Amino acid sequence: MKKYSPFLVFLFGSFLAQAQNPEIPSSVENVETKVDSVLNLMTLEEKIGQLVQYNGSWDLTGPASDMDNKQKEENLKRGMVGSMLNVLSVEATTEAQKLVMENSRLKIPLIFGYDVIHGYKTMFPVPIGETASWDLEAMEESARIAALESAAHGVNWTFAPMIDISRDARWGRIMEGSGEDPFLTSKVAVAKIKGYQGNDLASPTTIAATAKHFAGYGFAEAGRDYNTIHVGENELHNTILPPFKAAADAGVATFMNSFNDIDGTPATGHKILQRDILKGDWNWNGFIVSDWGSIIEMVDHGFARDKKHAAEIALNAGSDMDMEGGAYEASLLELVEEGKVSEEKINDAVKRVLRVKFKLGLFEDPYKYSNPDLLAQIPFQEHQETARDIARKSIVLLKNENNILPIKSSVKNIAVIGPLADDKDTPIGNWRAQGEANSAVSLLEGIKNTVGSGVKVTHAKGAALGMGERSFLAPLEINTTDRSGFADAVKKAGNADLVIMALGEDAFQSGEGRSQVNIGLAGLQQELLEEIYAVNKNIVLVLQNGRPLEISWAAENIPGIVEAWQLGSESGNAIADVLFGKYNPSGKLPVSFPRAVGQEPLYYNQKNTGRPFSPNSVTYSAYTDEKKDALYPFGFGLSYTDFEYGDLQLSSSKMTPDASIKVSFQLTNSGDVEGKEVVQLYLRDLVASTTRPVKELKGFQLITLAPGETKKVTFEISEEMLQFYNAERKWDSEAGEFHVLIGGNSRDLKKSSFTLNK
Ligand code: NOJ
Repeated sequence: MKKYSPFLVFLFGSFLAQAQNPEIPSSVENVETKVDSVLNLMTLEEKIGQLVQYNGSWDLTGPASDMDNKQKEENLKRGMVGSMLNVLSVEATTEAQKLVMENSRLKIPLIFGYDVIHGYKTMFPVPIGETASWDLEAMEESARIAALESAAHGVNWTFAPMIDISRDARWGRIMEGSGEDPFLTSKVAVAKIKGYQGNDLASPTTIAATAKHFAGYGFAEAGRDYNTIHVGENELHNTILPPFKAAADAGVATFMNSFNDIDGTPATGHKILQRDILKGDWNWNGFIVSDWGSIIEMVDHGFARDKKHAAEIALNAGSDMDMEGGAYEASLLELVEEGKVSEEKINDAVKRVLRVKFKLGLFEDPYKYSNPDLLAQIPFQEHQETARDIARKSIVLLKNENNILPIKSSVKNIAVIGPLADDKDTPIGNWRAQGEANSAVSLLEGIKNTVGSGVKVTHAKGAALGMGERSFLAPLEINTTDRSGFADAVKKAGNADLVIMALGEDAFQSGEGRSQVNIGLAGLQQELLEEIYAVNKNIVLVLQNGRPLEISWAAENIPGIVEAWQLGSESGNAIADVLFGKYNPSGKLPVSFPRAVGQEPLYYNQKNTGRPFSPNSVTYSAYTDEKKDALYPFGFGLSYTDFEYGDLQLSSSKMTPDASIKVSFQLTNSGDVEGKEVVQLYLRDLVASTTRPVKELKGFQLITLAPGETKKVTFEISEEMLQFYNAERKWDSEAGEFHVLIGGNSRDLKKSSFTLNK
């Protein structure tokens, strides 16, 4: 295969050494020198070419540019394109790379991007579900596997992880992130980036990651996708930006900006966010790709007059690459000639793109990711086993009245009822990359794989959930009329010892563009559940969904509730492992489940308000028709055993900036099976120069205990953990009293306090 000669890189160009950012991991040496060398060879047109990204002709996620494929091919040959997305096989990536390597003047390799969100072929739980495992090693591992499978198909850049904090279950993309908490999301961000990028981007088994969407996208007003964001500076810095800062510090290779307007400025044209904060204050030197067409969408925002004006704003604001928008390729040359965009800024953007390409090792071998030998070595079977393990770790037990679970050996007749009971597609979820349709182990299959011949398993769908075409772009049609399957379901349920109800959301009910004003059980599901309940109250409800659902009736009436998200390829086996006690559930919610949709946005780390409670009147911050707290709070999840938390012991009740303190307690497994507890540490800053949340997650540990075992658990609290973006616009701690709160969820907590002296 033809390679780009590194000789050329050294022959020309200035040898001006620049500080190399040690944080984007790569074994390639002298990257900065090489980047400068290549830049010096480039014409302005070739530079602009590096900032252009084309779509392959499938998997469109928005209106495609009007350029035909022939023209795209010509531009690739001329070296006028830096990247492509959605080119998805060894053959296709090789083909596209050849166009560039065999025809263009400088032979600068393409970088191939794709949305590898929760697996490439082997599917893992959707991110909101996987986060419920709180298991950072597991999350790193699934990213490593996804990277390996992608890389072997020629993809060397994923548009993940999505680390938008979201507190609104109406927003369909809540499934794609890690929920409502900035601390947990930051930890997940780092784990995912490590998984995708490894220690060396130049390895043919690792790929570049993307921190997205910068910034604020998860705060869409009213939960409506692409809608405007209203956040103040305080919330931006304390809640939205921390995961992005963690990603930048972890050496993520790229960022993606976002579609939304944030307080009057579209994120894509936001200079303060991109140039001042990310590239300035945080000193991050990867590149920013726009979201799909988000540059040109600034015209619709009413922020740019036309395509050319949009390109000017975006480039000047620090948006480096134009994803399938056509604005940069159409206008940047003229804009530089007219002096509206400086060549210096273009150079900076191009250097960023080249830097990542060098770090990926593409200049040494542009075809290293399109390697059929690597593909032949992928241990897909092993990946399935890992997928099953991560899936069961992600399951959250929400209710277990009278220990209906795990299912007892006395249960001899199980009816598996509901639209998702034998659905092999929904567990694959949205953003499924190359995960095959209908390829998951269904719940029914998982149950049948697990029970012995002595247990009778019957099945009835009851009602379809979604009807018509299922795909990323097709609107979802929910069945609200066809009850023809009810009678059979009711009959089978009536004859069973135990009913497993499989309800929730269709695979494409959450995800991009899937905002909803109702988040209850869609279609006829609630009605079906109540009819089954009328004939058999022995029900375990298994939910499969990508967002928190409103399930107050079920929470009141159904004895067993299992949150099983969309768990990926091994879904049914993983759920059966939990239902039959082969695996003791340990997942905890990364997002609050509401009592009613009207509570949204709902999150545990709220502010206290000036009127948190009043015993004698209605004039305090609450609802008159519903409680104000969550049905199931952030951090909540049951186990088949019980954990008892001892009182908190502090190593000192006073802290100074240079000396951390320790908080310890005894954790006991008081039940009779082994179990794993996610122990959570929260802090509250009682008085500060800006109002502070009533509690904030600041640490967690996964502790496994044998029955009857007690372990001392210790957290160290440092001054850094007390810092926040304060009234002086600085990250700092402030002297005063703090509460330290520890428990197995964000609601039921042991409390102590200490003072910070400064
Ligand atoms: C639009 C989405 O917002 C973004 O997350 C995704 O990476 C791009 N489309 C590319 O598919």
